[in-house]
Amino acid sequence: MANATEKILITGALGQIGSELTNKLVELHGAENVIATDIQKFDKNHTNAGFYERMDVSNTALVQQIVKDYEITTVYHLASLLSGTSEKNPQFAWKLNVEPLLNFLEMAKEGKLKKIFWPSSIAVFGRGIPKENVGQEVVLNPSTVYGISKLAGEKWCEYYHEKFGVDVRSIRYPGLISWKTPAGGGTTDYAVEIYYEAVEKGKYTSFISENTAMPMLYMDDAIDATLQLMAAPSESISVRTSYNLGGMSFTPKELASEIKNIIPEFEIDYQPDFRQAIADSWPASIDDAVAKKDWGLKYQYGIKEMSEDMISNLRKKLCHS
Ligand code: SER
Repeated sequence: MANATEKILITGALGQIGSELTNKLVELHGAENVIATDIQKFDKNHTNAGFYERMDVSNTALVQQIVKDYEITTVYHLASLLSGTSEKNPQFAWKLNVEPLLNFLEMAKEGKLKKIFWPSSIAVFGRGIPKENVGQEVVLNPSTVYGISKLAGEKWCEYYHEKFGVDVRSIRYPGLISWKTPAGGGTTDYAVEIYYEAVEKGKYTSFISENTAMPMLYMDDAIDATLQLMAAPSESISVRTSYNLGGMSFTPKELASEIKNIIPEFEIDYQPDFRQAIADSWPASIDDAVAKKDWGLKYQYGIKEMSEDMISNLRKKLCHS
C-alpha cells in the first residue's frame, strides 16, 4: 500500500525509464505526491505527475531547493549518460553520472531525504570474469567510462549506507527494451532500434555483431523489479552496492529470428561500430539469485512475449495496421 506521506522526486523523468516509472508511481501514490524533473522542457505526453520542474541535476543548489520546497522523502535518480555517449564525452559523463548522486546521498545523510533509488548497470562488469552467469560478488573491472562511473556510484551508495545508515537501493539494469520512449546512446539499444525499424522499414542494420549475447529486460519487468526493491523492508536488503538482474540473454541473430516469426519479410545485416568493443567487455548472462532471494524478483516477459508486445504497440504508435 502507498505510504500517504511519501513525496517522490524523479530525475530524468522524461527518459526511457523515467517516463514509464513516473506514471506508475502516480498510479501508486497519487499525482500530487509525484514531482517529475528533467533537463528537457515539459512534455505532457510523457508524464502525468502532479508537478514538473525543469532541473539540471548538476545544479546542486537548485536540486536542494526543490527537495526542500516539495518536502521530498524519496528520490528516483535516473538522469544519466549511457555507455555509447559516455565514451564520447568522458569528463561530462563522470560529472553527470556521479556528482548529483553524491548530492542526494549527502542530503539523505543530513536527514533531508529518507530513501534513494539509483540505477547501476551490467557495465560495472569487465575483464577477468567468465562471460556466462555472472554472480553478484565478482571482481568488477569495467573498461568503459560508463562502467567506471557506475562502479564508483555503487561504492558511494554502499559507503553512505554503511557509514551513515542512508537507505539507498540499486539495481544493475541489463539492456532495457521498451516502445513508449526511445532510449539514447546505449550499447544495448540495438535491441530497441531493431523493433522500430522492423515495423517501419522491414529491415535493420545492427551495430552489434550477430553472435554477441547480452542480458536484456523488458521495461514492464524493470519497473516491477524497481518498485519491488523499493517496497522491500530495509532488513531484507543485503546488497547496498547494486543488485544483479539477469532478465533474458540473446544475440542480435536470435532476436532477428524472433522478429521474423511475426514479420516474415524482416531482414537484418550487421555493421558493428565502436559499441561492439563495449558489448564484448560485458557479460553474456547474469545470475540474479540474490535479488530473487532477498526481495522476490521475478519476470513476466521472455523474448517471445516481449517481441509480440513491442511489435503490436509499435504498429499502433507508428500508425501501421
Ligand atoms: N543499456 C545500457 C547501455 O547500453 C547498459 O546499462 O548503456
